Amino acid sequence: MQTVGVIGAGQMGAGIAQVAAQAGFHVLLSDVSKDRADAGKAGIAKALDRLVTKEKMTAEACDAALGLIEPVEGLSAMVPAFLVIEAATEREEIKRAIFAEVGKVLASDAILASNTSSIPITRLAQASPDPARFMGVHFFNPVPVMGLIELIRGLATSDATVAAVEAFGRKLGKEIVHANDAPGFIVNRVLMPMLNEACFALGEGVATVRDIDVACQLGLNHPMGPLTLADFIGLDTCLEITRVLFEGTGDPKFRPAPLLVKYVEAGWFGRKTKRGFYDYSGAEPVPTR
Ligand code: 3HC
Repeated sequence: MQTVGVIGAGQMGAGIAQVAAQAGFHVLLSDVSKDRADAGKAGIAKALDRLVTKEKMTAEACDAALGLIEPVEGLSAMVPAFLVIEAATEREEIKRAIFAEVGKVLASDAILASNTSSIPITRLAQASPDPARFMGVHFFNPVPVMGLIELIRGLATSDATVAAVEAFGRKLGKEIVHANDAPGFIVNRVLMPMLNEACFALGEGVATVRDIDVACQLGLNHPMGPLTLADFIGLDTCLEITRVLFEGTGDPKFRPAPLLVKYVEAGWFGRKTKRGFYDYSGAEPVPTR
């Protein structure tokens, strides 16, 4: 059985650990503390339980997947992993520190991949033990539901690295797309301008929160309206990625909407802070404008 390491047991890391275990990989799950890694596993147990309740998974398969997830203390436990996926906080200095630490124990042929949504892969690779064995592997939220993985190769990434990570992604049942190391890769390059434009439209008084969302949901057949989706992703994350697009291309068409900036300055990050374009403090989200 192959072992995969997942660094970061938050929403994305736990989702990646879950789908990897469901595909039969032994998963080493780490976070800043063993308690956080344990909490990540507890969340996965709840998600798998829901699948059992809905009769989408047997109790045996649920137990088997959970049994494959091993919360670990510290990054030195990643020794047996053939692939380590970093899904930590989207801050470059944090990721660099992780790569330096895990680099000390990574097997000489093991691959290190980052789930970054916006940091350039070629630049991140410089902090990894071997840029030829480093690449981007971008999952989407919620990981168990979303069918895509974007693979991003840095300038030095080897063909063998891409092939190994692609084979891993296919074993998870995901469709694979390849992107070059350009700002926002594919999905965020296309998505963020739409979410940002919805913020401009709201700020300019074109329509209310509810009407912008209903218009895109029913007029474009999107599962969520853009403001609901921005709240779901996190307005801080949306702003950060929009800034990467703006600064990385130098193109004014990507400039962040002033209203998005204001919301982030107010600490209104969306669902995670219970306030964004909707108020999430009650049973149902309530539009705020
Ligand atoms: N984890 C696991 N499963 C989940 C889930 C979660 N967090 N949220 C929902 N699901 C499952 C439900 O259990 C349900 O499964 P079932 O059909 O087997 O019963 C199914 O998804 C549908 O869920 P619901 O009926 O509760 O609700 P919806 O039909 O509204 O679907 C949604 C929820 C799947 C989140 C849907 O609204 C959606 O696809 N939204 C768009 C999500 C999206 O665009 N994500 C990408 C964000 S961009 C990104 O991640 C990149 C980053 O870099 C910013």
